[in-house]
Amino acid sequence: MRPVSDIHDEQLIVVGTGIRATGQLTIETIAWIRAADKVLYITADPVAEEVIRSLNPDGAESLMDLYGSDKLRLDTYADIVERTMAYLHQGHRVCMAVYGHPGVLAMSTHEAVRRARAEGFSARMLPAVSAADCLYADLGVDEFGGCISYEATDFLLNMRAIDPACHLILWQIGGVGVLTYETHHYPLQGLERLTQKLMAYYGPNHPVTLYEAPQFAGVEPIIGTGPLCQLPHSAPTPNATMYIPPLGKAQPDVQVQWELGMQTQVTA
Ligand SMILES: C[S@@+](CC[C@H](N)C(=O)[O-])C[C@H]1O[C@@H](n2cnc3c(N)ncnc32)[C@H](O)[C@@H]1O
Repeated sequence: MRPVSDIHDEQLIVVGTGIRATGQLTIETIAWIRAADKVLYITADPVAEEVIRSLNPDGAESLMDLYGSDKLRLDTYADIVERTMAYLHQGHRVCMAVYGHPGVLAMSTHEAVRRARAEGFSARMLPAVSAADCLYADLGVDEFGGCISYEATDFLLNMRAIDPACHLILWQIGGVGVLTYETHHYPLQGLERLTQKLMAYYGPNHPVTLYEAPQFAGVEPIIGTGPLCQLPHSAPTPNATMYIPPLGKAQPDVQVQWELGMQTQVTA
């Protein structure tokens, strides 16, 4: 088999390890991790770290030292981009490897690709398995009918719209209302305000699920479901994603259905 570096000539390649590195790393991603001079990785998962280091023992370098309590996440993202660019400037072929999908809630990876291209480097991002992909599988969620997804703090602080007839996913629920990075539990003051905001759409008793996909083979997902009003007492972890199932059915657009003669098909 030809090495990936013969097929494509990216100077920056951005890959994801999936949520469970043992099993969700694609063959293409493995080849890129091997082919890179520097593999800059972001994962707190010791197994994923071990896999990356074993694939490229000389080039692997963790970026986790750039995170810190009380440090704004935005500052960390800027530092990640700077370190990546520094290795590109030194002439290295760089692979950024992050957990999950590298383009899902991962500002620094998108920015690194943009910056690299703007400076004339060839750069590309590969898709990977995100936490949402695991959630669809483990909770049996089908996006048919619509799925809205927000970062929880962004949803809380802005006038975002919800259609309660859609599935709703809220990322980073454990850190809602917090802009810094914490290694264990975040302060939970935002959770109560978020609950109030959601209750305006769903009422107090609609079920909500806190979900954690397994990072290790043979481990079951953590799935906790309860009424929305209990959410402030739930202490979600930094790895939790919240899922809210649809409340009721979508309102039919009678006018369009009538125009297209599709009343029966759409509403059946
Ligand atoms: C910065 S985002 C990274 C998302 C990641 N790039 C992806 O593709 O899934 C961190 C958030 O992803 C979600 N997440 C990360 N690991 C997870 C897991 N094991 N199970 C469920 N959600 C997870 C949580 O919402 C967490 O707060």
